Amino acid sequence: MPTILITGSNRGIGKRLAELYDAEGWTVIAACRDPAASAAPGEKLALDVGDSDSVAAAAQTLAGREIDVLWNNAGVYLDKNMPLSKMDWDAWAQTFWINSIAPIRLCETLRANVAASKRKTFAFTTSKMGSIALNSGGGYAYRSSKAALNMAISCLTQDVTAQGIKTVMLHPGWVQTDMGGSGADIDTNTSASGMKSVVDGLTEAQSGQFRNYDGKELPW
Ligand SMILES: NC(=O)c1ccc[n+]([C@@H]2O[C@H](COP(=O)([O-])OP(=O)(O)OC[C@H]3O[C@@H](n4cnc5c(N)ncnc54)[C@H](OP(=O)(O)O)[C@@H]3O)[C@@H](O)[C@H]2O)c1
Repeated sequence: MPTILITGSNRGIGKRLAELYDAEGWTVIAACRDPAASAAPGEKLALDVGDSDSVAAAAQTLAGREIDVLWNNAGVYLDKNMPLSKMDWDAWAQTFWINSIAPIRLCETLRANVAASKRKTFAFTTSKMGSIALNSGGGYAYRSSKAALNMAISCLTQDVTAQGIKTVMLHPGWVQTDMGGSGADIDTNTSASGMKSVVDGLTEAQSGQFRNYDGKELPW
């Protein structure tokens, strides 16, 4: 069976993704900051995506191992409900580090593992809030970090296509998690099942697309 590595797999959308792939018999590498406290199924892997030593240690652990799908799901929304007048500028920089830079670094670090696999896929949980066309204002740090992530994935797509690696950017919907809150539109199962279907059916021609969890293409 194929292998998937999911970041931020201990709660929210990432945990549900781990459960769905595990239920289908995939080998799930459930990466998170504190594996001992995680109830996600699969092999636990300690990985703080913002920490260079943690990324290097994970790469060493995974050396020579095929990874069919590397799903960059971990993310932060540190300026939720924070108006510009109250902006925490360091939190904005931290948001960029975790949401925009860390996923690309992880892809580059584990590129050989993914290139050696059958499915060769980089999946990303990004956000519609990173769409300039759909911007309704506020959330400067979060929105700009996801817009930057999408641009970086677009660059990455061009770099990895020759190796046969496909990419996909996924908006999970507004989801009932710690981040989305209990009043959000959909539950984690609806979100994760929808995104999984998109990833399962991903073709080379669709690589680099920005899609909703239900498969619809989203504007940049
Ligand atoms: N919920 C929504 O409505 C919504 C909408 C659009 C996009 N998204 C995106 O969906 C993804 C998952 O969000 P969620 O709703 O499931 O949020 P969540 O419940 O707040 O979970 C966030 C996950 O990211 C992990 N994480 C944060 N910083 C990390 C780091 N430095 N290293 C490793 N893991 C880290 C957290 O781990 P810890 O437990 O260790 O903190 C947690 O597992 C995020 O990328 C988010 O931006 C969510």
